[in-house]
Amino acid sequence: MTGRDSAKTITIGGDLTVNRLGFGAMRITGRGIWGDPPDRAGAVALLRRVVERGVDFIDTADSYGPNVSEELIAEALHPYPKGLVIATKGGLTRPGPDSWRANCRPAHLREACDGSLKRLRVERIDLYQLHTIDAAVPLAESIAALVELQRAGKIRHIGISNVNAAQLAEAQKLATIVSVQNRYNLDDRAHDKVLDACTRDGLAFLPWYPLAAGSLAQPKGAFRDVAQRHHATPTQLALAWLLRRSPVTLPIPGTSSIAHFEENLAAQDILLSDEEMAALGR
Ligand SMILES: NC(=O)c1ccc[n+]([C@@H]2O[C@H](COP(=O)([O-])OP(=O)(O)OC[C@H]3O[C@@H](n4cnc5c(N)ncnc54)[C@H](OP(=O)(O)O)[C@@H]3O)[C@@H](O)[C@H]2O)c1
Repeated sequence: MTGRDSAKTITIGGDLTVNRLGFGAMRITGRGIWGDPPDRAGAVALLRRVVERGVDFIDTADSYGPNVSEELIAEALHPYPKGLVIATKGGLTRPGPDSWRANCRPAHLREACDGSLKRLRVERIDLYQLHTIDAAVPLAESIAALVELQRAGKIRHIGISNVNAAQLAEAQKLATIVSVQNRYNLDDRAHDKVLDACTRDGLAFLPWYPLAAGSLAQPKGAFRDVAQRHHATPTQLALAWLLRRSPVTLPIPGTSSIAHFEENLAAQDILLSDEEMAALGR
């Protein structure tokens, strides 16, 4: 085990140092990631608790709600404590509940970024991520729009999301990409190649769906045995595995519940051994 594998923090883009367990703010909206949450005061309390407990990286997007997640973050946390990094995204639109449509045209990205700046009440977004690849728009055009926003001082760093290794390599030729956000968890390692490229190049890798939306709460085989050895819940083990998988992972588990948040946060204190990683598959 190397010291870096167990590092508690990660530095993104050379200047944003944050704890490696972040918070995903998609689940603080209404059902279908649409509209207001059933308990708005509860969502505000959760966000405040997240920051009180030392989490300093929150992931959101204009499309969560839409707008609701960003608005709640500002309502709960603005003026923001020093060092809190709020990462948002643009490039997906919301025709309705559970419905997502890519729009990574430069004009849309400019408009989306302006909307996020306003809702988050910031002058510059620390990490702005292209939410997806839009088959109708060349990646070069979308990335060029983000570079323009960066030059205009509206965004500090550029990240990308839902990319394969070739798309990541292409984006890296067009701009300084500091992070990748892809679906990845103990049961779904389809993006191993992308994670390996991020590890090689020192890019932060934000595994979304890190708990498979709670289904990893039902452990089996080696997973159950290792969890029991650490007196850990299955979701804690799923996060501990991600933290140990590479020094560049920054999991962003999402929840609407303070109890689940506290449970998940405790994963940062679990350090899996090489043998346990081998039993779980790396
Ligand atoms: N880039 C993208 O395309 C993309 C796509 C999806 C998500 N994301 C980001 O990734 C973040 C995480 O993804 P996700 O929310 O889809 O997946 P996730 O974190 O794997 O799962 C969240 C779900 O798991 C449940 N959960 C959380 N902690 C639990 C626990 N300790 N025990 C049992 N159930 C638990 C939550 O329900 P409760 O509310 O009941 O706790 C919630 O429904 C999102 O918030 C968002 O920021 C990005």
